[in-house]
Amino acid sequence: MTDQTPVSYAGPERVLSGVQPSGALHLGNYLGALVKFARLQHEIDTFIFVADMHAITVWQDPALLAGQTREIAAAYLASGLDPAKATIFPQSAVPEHAELAWIFNCVARLGWLDRMTQFKEKSGKHKERSSVGLYTYPVLQAADILIYKATKVPVGEDQKQHLELTRDIAQKFNHDFEAPGFFPLPEPLIQGPGARIMSLRDGQAKMSKSDASDLSRINLTDDADAIAAKIRKARTDPEALPDTLEALALRPEADNLVGIFAALGGESKAEVLARFAGQGFGVFKPALADLAVSALSPVSEAMRRYLDDPAEIDRILGAGALKAREVASQTVAEVKARVGFWGA
Ligand code: AMP
Ligand code: TRP
Repeated sequence: MTDQTPVSYAGPERVLSGVQPSGALHLGNYLGALVKFARLQHEIDTFIFVADMHAITVWQDPALLAGQTREIAAAYLASGLDPAKATIFPQSAVPEHAELAWIFNCVARLGWLDRMTQFKEKSGKHKERSSVGLYTYPVLQAADILIYKATKVPVGEDQKQHLELTRDIAQKFNHDFEAPGFFPLPEPLIQGPGARIMSLRDGQAKMSKSDASDLSRINLTDDADAIAAKIRKARTDPEALPDTLEALALRPEADNLVGIFAALGGESKAEVLARFAGQGFGVFKPALADLAVSALSPVSEAMRRYLDDPAEIDRILGAGALKAREVASQTVAEVKARVGFWGA
């Protein structure tokens, strides 16, 4: 045993995040994740991947998976990620993630995974029929992050618990293998009104690709008419917009629409209220629809353009994978030596 004083990580800052290629992207993914990636690439060394190894924790049609991976890559590029600045790659092209995940499976404790709420939600009533991968998925996520010694992870609020687990794994590895400061304790970047976008049909439920109603979400591929119609039909109450955040917080649907307006326009909710307090949804909804269409149409158009040229997407993903592997294989070599593997 070493002494208990934690030595903090002294390496450079790095951003890492990813999205699963398991369904159409929606406004929550865009505001909670994609726009943050594009912003951060200008400030910090940024690694963004397509989480295809996570996607197969639930069944994915093998004939569709590679196309879904290209779609997420196209969404990254369309939201402004620049392959000259950020490293963009498919997770499965860097097999070292799986290698580190195995070692982390032996570091993480069952009790830690038993607490993960996303597994409980996704496995539903039939836990025994879930894949083992779905259960141990947060351990793979920790490997995704720590293999690049990432210090900042931009995600939506639903990923907070997985980041706590990642820190627990980093800390236990550093301690058990007498490697103080070897792995950083990464911080989630969750702030801002886009961190938790709710369903347009129910202000208490997260906007999600698994919601049965397509009216509940705005998809990145929706055209202007669909976006406007969904906002028009969004559930609201009959009151005018209030002038304080406290009053707004008591009205989940109104709060969500104001939050979407703020996130799309790069403002705070207070700034939006300052302009719209006292106005009804008859005024607010058309303004929100205009803003959403003008913010999202260029993204969906750019996405279509990228998807028309899959060879270019593949070139970007291949080049990104090479860069990512350089870093990942270095970390894995160091980890194997710490663990005491033969030849390491
Ligand atoms: P997923 O689609 O669940 O793979 O999520 C991809 C990214 O989008 C993650 O960073 C999530 O936290 C984020 N995200 C998903 N749904 C929402 C939402 N309704 N509001 C904000 N962020 C979200
Ligand atoms: N679990 C994340 C999600 O469902 C996707 C993901 C996998 C991820 N590995 C990651 C996000 C590493 C951030 C960092 O959205």
